Amino acid sequence: MHFDEIARGQLLIIDSRETDARILWEILSQAGYTNIRTAAGLRAAIDMVQNGFQPDLVILDLEALNAEGLGPLRDLQRRISQDSYVPLLAVVTGPDFGLKERALLLLARDYITRPFDRTEVLFRVKNLLETRLLYLQVQHQNQVLEERVRQRTRELEAARLEILERLALAAEYRDDATGKHTRRVARISALVGRELGLPSGSVRLLERAAPLHDIGKIAVPDRILLKPGPLTPEEFEVVKAHTVIGARILSGSRFDILRLAEQIALSHHERWDGNGYPQGLSRDQIPVPGRIVAVADVFDALTHARP
Ligand SMILES: [Fe+2]
Repeated sequence: MHFDEIARGQLLIIDSRETDARILWEILSQAGYTNIRTAAGLRAAIDMVQNGFQPDLVILDLEALNAEGLGPLRDLQRRISQDSYVPLLAVVTGPDFGLKERALLLLARDYITRPFDRTEVLFRVKNLLETRLLYLQVQHQNQVLEERVRQRTRELEAARLEILERLALAAEYRDDATGKHTRRVARISALVGRELGLPSGSVRLLERAAPLHDIGKIAVPDRILLKPGPLTPEEFEVVKAHTVIGARILSGSRFDILRLAEQIALSHHERWDGNGYPQGLSRDQIPVPGRIVAVADVFDALTHARP
């Protein structure tokens, strides 16, 4: 990382001894650091942060900590490093550390000793600031990547739904090139589902799976599918097979929507009295989505002209 970038990092010196703060300020500003603030104590530092100053590195003198205690330090740390990493550099008097100094060192990332050694101060500050700025870079990159993943997921979801819609349209194309019937069945199914009190997620899934109910018609020849008059018993058997064929086309998926579509394809011609097909299920044996689509399908067939 270029030093110019590091030198723009925001430094906060908290020192109850004005002369020490002054010396640190001079060492750092002579070295090229441009954003240095000093606070006479922890509470003054908290005020600065509350007024919008976000430090990248906090240099804290033991005396300042002694005067105000751990509470304000924790408060300060909470405010400056909520979702990021802000290093703390302790200022202590060496070489023998007392209990309090050792306590401060536990909270700090590193330390400098009094009297100040210019080189030591500059090295410590540069290293900690660089770590902080790299951390921010990684955090920013992660956010960009997360947004990109979200965007791609949205696109994939839209593509998935569009492919399902087009698949449904392909199934209906020969007797309903506009796709209006499938869309109406989907809409009516969703309305019925909602009226029955199904959870909104299930209703949405139902609306998207319902258009595929007749996908098995792909396998029914035109001469039968488009025949205007009544069907012979043999022809009707072929038509009935569209339920089983549809379920087979949709079977084995690991996606909820396709598993639901499979269930609907298989069961949307069952009847409450047991006289439906292909399995002749009755009443509660018929899955609810199959029952709903059956009602929607018949309602639409009764209210619109179709072969
Ligand atoms: Fe059908």
